[in-house]
Amino acid sequence: MKKLLLHLDTDPVPSTFDQAVVYDAGVDNVIAYGGATRDNVTAHVHGMIFTRGGKNLKNSAIFIGGSNVPASELVGRAVKKAFFGPVRVSVMLDPNGSNTTAAAIARKVMTNYDVKDKKVVILGAGPVGQRAALYFLQEGAAQVIITSRSLERTKVITDQMKEAYGVDVIPAETRSDESVKKLLIDAHVAIASGPAGVCVCPKAAWSASKTLEIIADVNAVPPMGVEGLEVMDNGTEKEGVRFYGAIAIGNFKMKVHRGAVSSLFDSNDQFLDETTIYDIACNIPTE
Ligand SMILES: NC(=O)c1ccc[n+]([C@@H]2O[C@H](COP(=O)([O-])OP(=O)(O)OC[C@H]3O[C@@H](n4cnc5c(N)ncnc54)[C@H](OP(=O)(O)O)[C@@H]3O)[C@@H](O)[C@H]2O)c1
Repeated sequence: MKKLLLHLDTDPVPSTFDQAVVYDAGVDNVIAYGGATRDNVTAHVHGMIFTRGGKNLKNSAIFIGGSNVPASELVGRAVKKAFFGPVRVSVMLDPNGSNTTAAAIARKVMTNYDVKDKKVVILGAGPVGQRAALYFLQEGAAQVIITSRSLERTKVITDQMKEAYGVDVIPAETRSDESVKKLLIDAHVAIASGPAGVCVCPKAAWSASKTLEIIADVNAVPPMGVEGLEVMDNGTEKEGVRFYGAIAIGNFKMKVHRGAVSSLFDSNDQFLDETTIYDIACNIPTE
């Protein structure tokens, strides 16, 4: 029986990237809709759950994407609500690649490295940075600090994380190179998860730290998010610090993304989100 994937995207046009990846993960056909909202997906979900019965249901699955992460999460809830008991299909939620990318950063950093009791600074408090913060805390980091250019905005985010996940992420503001330097001075791990094409970590900030062991950056658009880092760095040692660039992380992210899509078809009752996608990443070798 053919593997069918319903792709619901909150953007007007469903992501080409997400559709390309699922074919490489073994899906036979994608049915893609843009403009998905929590109010218009029920009929599409019924189209998936009422066409194949019993053990054949596992050959149908749903992928939810889109650049608006909260809107995609609402679609995820609406999809769950449209299921009836065992009449359901597996679902993967990866808006803007946030879950697969954050899982990939965390696992790459933890290649032969234990974050237990370490201080981690995450420069960029978007969905990727937020999820990476969760994973580092889950793996025993002593302290995880997340930053944006406004302490007020970062605090709203860390309060939301406390409410949603019960975690204590420390909010900070990085408006100047000096503020980045201060945060990194006694840190062990620095993650650049700022916007594409923006350097959020100048060399003067990371090279002043005597404790930094690892720096990773997910921005693939020049200039890099970290000055002195190269996009192909894959555990490359510079001045005693190990560097991971966006291509090394991106290559692993693709494995996680394909692995998660492929596992959707193992059964009809999975919901792959920020937690379960990380678990999948933990079972894929990073090298
Ligand atoms: N390789 C992949 O597969 C992949 C997939 C997804 C994302 N990404 C990359 O991952 C990065 C993060 O993605 P995202 O979706 O989480 O991004 P996002 O939603 O745009 O978030 C960026 C964050 O950086 C903050 N920021 C902006 N300028 C900053 C500065 N100078 N210093 C510190 N923080 C700053 C922003 O907050 P304020 O504006 O409030 O300061 C915001 O919190 C992007 O570079 C994206 O391209 C890569």
